[in-house]
Amino acid sequence: MKDEINAPSSLGKRSVNSAYHANEKGYYGEFGGAFIPEMLYPNTEELRLNYIRIMEEPSFKQEFDQLLKDYVGRPTPLYFADRLSKKYGTKIYLKREDLCHTGAHKVNNTIGQILMAKKLGKNRIIAETGAGQHGVATATVCALMGIECVVYMGEIDIARQAPNVARMKMLGAEVRPALSGSRTLKDATNEAIRDWINNPVDTHYIIGSVVGPHPYPDMVARFQSVISEEIKWQLKEKEGHENPDYVVACVGGGSNAAGAYYHYLDDTNVGIIAVEAAGKGIDSGESAATSALGKVGIIHGSKTLLMQTQDGQITEPYSISAGLDYPGVGPMHAHLFRSGRGEFISITDDEAMTAGLEVSQLEGIIPAIETSHAFAIFDYKKFKKDDVVVINLSGRGDKDLQTYIDYFRL
Ligand SMILES: Cc1ncc(COP(=O)(O)O)c(C=O)c1O
Repeated sequence: MKDEINAPSSLGKRSVNSAYHANEKGYYGEFGGAFIPEMLYPNTEELRLNYIRIMEEPSFKQEFDQLLKDYVGRPTPLYFADRLSKKYGTKIYLKREDLCHTGAHKVNNTIGQILMAKKLGKNRIIAETGAGQHGVATATVCALMGIECVVYMGEIDIARQAPNVARMKMLGAEVRPALSGSRTLKDATNEAIRDWINNPVDTHYIIGSVVGPHPYPDMVARFQSVISEEIKWQLKEKEGHENPDYVVACVGGGSNAAGAYYHYLDDTNVGIIAVEAAGKGIDSGESAATSALGKVGIIHGSKTLLMQTQDGQITEPYSISAGLDYPGVGPMHAHLFRSGRGEFISITDDEAMTAGLEVSQLEGIIPAIETSHAFAIFDYKKFKKDDVVVINLSGRGDKDLQTYIDYFRL
C-alpha cells in the first residue's frame, strides 16, 4: 500500500514518494523552494507551518467542497467534443472549467485561499492579476466573505481586459495599476509582494497560480487538483477507465495545468502536454515561451525556469493573451520539462486565435485566448484514432471578445 499524505481527497491526496509533487521543502526536483527577502519570511512561514494542517481539518474540507458545489457549480462537465474529434481523428474531451462561476478555473483556488485566510485570522486580501480572471475570482470571494480586497494589475492588462476590470470594481475591489516594467503580470506581482511586506499581520496574499515561494505552488496545485479528481471518475463513466492517453493544458504560471495533471503525474502512461505562448514566434523577441527560452533563475520567490538576459535580468514577456504573458513557469512545470515527463509545445498568437475561432464554430464554445493556445496543438502533435485526449478548457472567451473582434475584424 502506498504511503499517503493525509489530506482530504479533494485537496490533493497523493503518494509522498512522488517524483513529480513537491517535497516538504517545496521542491520539485531542483526547482521551487522559498527565495524571499527576510521581511517576507514571517508571512510565508506562517502559511507554510499551517496550510496542510488547515486543509486536513474536516470543517475546512466540508466548507471548501460545499462552496465548490453550490457556489462555483462543480463538478464541471467532461464534454465529448464530437465535431472537433472528427476533424482531428481522435477522441477529444473538454473539461469545462469555463463553466465555473466567474468563467475560469481560477475560482477553485480563490475559494480555498479565502477560507485559508479566514482560518489564519486575516481581514485584508491582496492579489495580482494578468487576464483579470484571478482578480475577478479574488474580488468575488472577498465579496462573498465581506473582506477588503486590493488587486494589482499591469497598466497594459487593465486596458486589454477592460470587462474584467469593471467586474472587479463592481464586486467592490480596488484595482491598483502596476506602472513599472512591461506593465503586465510580472509587474503586478512585484507590487503585490511589496504590499505584503508592508502589511505582514492582517493581510493574506492570494497568489493566482502555482508560482511564488513555497508553500504557494503546492497549496494552489492542491486546490486545483479537484479538476483531475473529477476527470478520473467522469472518464470512468464515459470510457470505462480513469486514465486518458493525454491531458493537455495551457501554461501561464501553470495552475489550470497543475490541476488537470495532478492525479496523473505519477502515472506515466498518461501523456502530459503543456502549451505555452510563443507570441509572435519563439525567436521574435516577443514571446512567453519559457520552456524554449528559459534558463534556471529565481522569480517571485521560486527557483524555476525563466526568460532572462545574459546578465540574469528578466526578459519582458509578450503574448496576445494576458494570462500567458509571464516570463516564467511554476516549479512543477519546470521540473516536468526538465525531467521529460511533460511535452511542451509553443503556440503563436496567430495559431491560438485561429484555433479559438475554430472551436467556437465547431463546438459552439468561445474559449479564453489562453485556452485557445491548447487547442492549437493539432498541427504539431498527431494522435491515434483511439487515443483519449482531455483538453482542459480553462476559461471562457467573454473577456477576450474585443481582442477576437479586432483580430478577425468581425
Ligand atoms: C482562462 C485562463 N486560462 C489560463 C490562464 C493561465 O494561468 P494558469 O497557467 O495559472 O492556469 C489564465 C490566467 O489568467 C486564464 O484566465
